[in-house]
Amino acid sequence: MFYPEELVEEVRSKSDIVDVVSGYVRLQKKGSSHWGLCPFHNEKTPSFSVSASKQIYHCFGCGAGGDVFGFLMNYENYTFPEAMKILADRAGVQLPEPQEGEEGRVREKKRARLLEVNKEAAKFFFYQLRSPRGEIGYQYLEKRELSRETMHRFGLGYAGKSGAEVVQYLHEKGFEDEVIKEAGLASYSEKYGLKSLFWNRVMFPIQDRNNRVIGFGGRVMGDGEPKYLNSPETPIFDKRRNLYGLNFARMAKAGNMILCEGYMDVIAMHQAGFTQAVASLGTAFTAEQAALLGRYTENVLLAYDSDGAGVKAALRSIGILREAGLTGKVINMKPYKDPDEFMKALGREAFEERIAQAENSFFFELRILEEQFDMSDPEAKTKFHREIAKKLCGFSEAVERENYLQAVADKYFISVGNLRNLVEGYAAQTGLAKPVERPKTGVRKKNPEENVKRNQRLLLTWISDEPALYDKIKTYISADDFKEELYHLVAERLFGDLEQGKFQPASIIGMFEDEEEQRLAAEIFNTNLPRLESMQEREKAFHDILYQVKSSSYQYEMTHMETSGKTFHQMVEGKQALEKLRKTHISLE
Ligand code: CTP
Ligand code: MN
Repeated sequence: MFYPEELVEEVRSKSDIVDVVSGYVRLQKKGSSHWGLCPFHNEKTPSFSVSASKQIYHCFGCGAGGDVFGFLMNYENYTFPEAMKILADRAGVQLPEPQEGEEGRVREKKRARLLEVNKEAAKFFFYQLRSPRGEIGYQYLEKRELSRETMHRFGLGYAGKSGAEVVQYLHEKGFEDEVIKEAGLASYSEKYGLKSLFWNRVMFPIQDRNNRVIGFGGRVMGDGEPKYLNSPETPIFDKRRNLYGLNFARMAKAGNMILCEGYMDVIAMHQAGFTQAVASLGTAFTAEQAALLGRYTENVLLAYDSDGAGVKAALRSIGILREAGLTGKVINMKPYKDPDEFMKALGREAFEERIAQAENSFFFELRILEEQFDMSDPEAKTKFHREIAKKLCGFSEAVERENYLQAVADKYFISVGNLRNLVEGYAAQTGLAKPVERPKTGVRKKNPEENVKRNQRLLLTWISDEPALYDKIKTYISADDFKEELYHLVAERLFGDLEQGKFQPASIIGMFEDEEEQRLAAEIFNTNLPRLESMQEREKAFHDILYQVKSSSYQYEMTHMETSGKTFHQMVEGKQALEKLRKTHISLE
């Protein structure tokens, strides 16, 4: 590994996983863990848990899990050295300079360099806009009714008529052609040499949520093609995972986020006081962006264009928001085309009203759907009602489905009974409306191997919750009872640590470099233990689990006698030990 183990341990012990994860996920303390909505899959009710005592996270829904390093690597797509660096900085631990040529360092250095060149380019465009050469750009933005403060706040700039100046400027600042090209600021051609991608455009620097310039959008002056030009994807510019305006919107605390289509829309909204407005980056709204929004709010208002393309995009985004467990509502912009034009014409208060009247996304979908049917024709009308019933089947929760059913029946003058019959008919045909089956926590009979591992997980989780138990059971059980390699490694290390009076599940997970192995190891420490009231019940449950683990181990050895090298005598001993354990009472007090 890259850093010495002691250093990794030092950083780990000085980083509180609850604290780190809280920077990304809203967590609530319940019992001995903190709970929140899992950032690694879409869900409506929290099944993502973070344990302060074990210093690990685990999602009971999707199975994601790991230690604090793993979390950052998973969430931020960091490499291990990157995660290490962030956490060390946070904890005030000094890291030695990694050795020359290390992959992580090279990558990190490049990213830093790309951020620098973008920042420098943004500065250049910014000053151009405010210089005589940028007058045309400045006038353009004034004509679009942006104040000087707004232009300043968003760092707007101007790229001049010739594409050569910015390249020259960056050269003077010491940036090599390679970096300028890789940042997507310029491209090389035989004829012109290195030439800026952007020229004769007002420039919108695109910032990540930490205010770092990761790319640019440029709008042409007047009518040219393309109207907006965006930086290509680069190692620091991931269009799927960033949102324009999020650096401000994340602080807005408005109780909702407003999703717009364009940069100008976002800026106009912020200028009018709606600082919770964001937009996707010249590409369609993505699931990753929905998850990003979900970190700040459950309520997303769509302020899309009122034209056909806008409606289509809204329908698409509604689906994505729903998948992410967010509530979408649609703001009606009519008779104006987009938030920018609306704001100019009617202003803040009128928009507040539109927010208050925003349409539930399900009703929005139905309204659009309705347009395809001729309601004066009974046949078409029936078809529409069938479509409604189909859509209602999409609500897996019975209460929600019933509430929508009644509201829809009311709105479209359908009898509740008839509509319910239709819905139930579809549900039976497709199995759609059945509640989502969740894996049960009880002992499952079906898969014997999984059952064995489950008991092992229960045992190791229980011991990690109550490390004092180890002394009581160590005569009965050892790492050798855990046959699968990963389980064996975890048990070996856990028991070894406990022997020495050390106990830190998170560092056990840190033994594994592979992400999937880390996930599986975290799962071992996060099995749902039976919730039992009386001490007697608890002792029985614990004894059962311990006995099951031992018993499966014995059975395994019986069936693998030839390969395991165990003698007949050893097997007899094993049987006796198992019998003894069966009769032994283990006190949990
Ligand atoms: N867009 C883009 N490339 C294009 C057109 C549009 O990336 N060729 C993106 C831009 O982010 C733009 C958004 O899609 O802001 C919405 O496009 P559109 O509605 O056409 O533009 P407006 O935002 O209304 O632009 P403006 O008001 O400047 O005319
Ligand atoms: Mn517009």
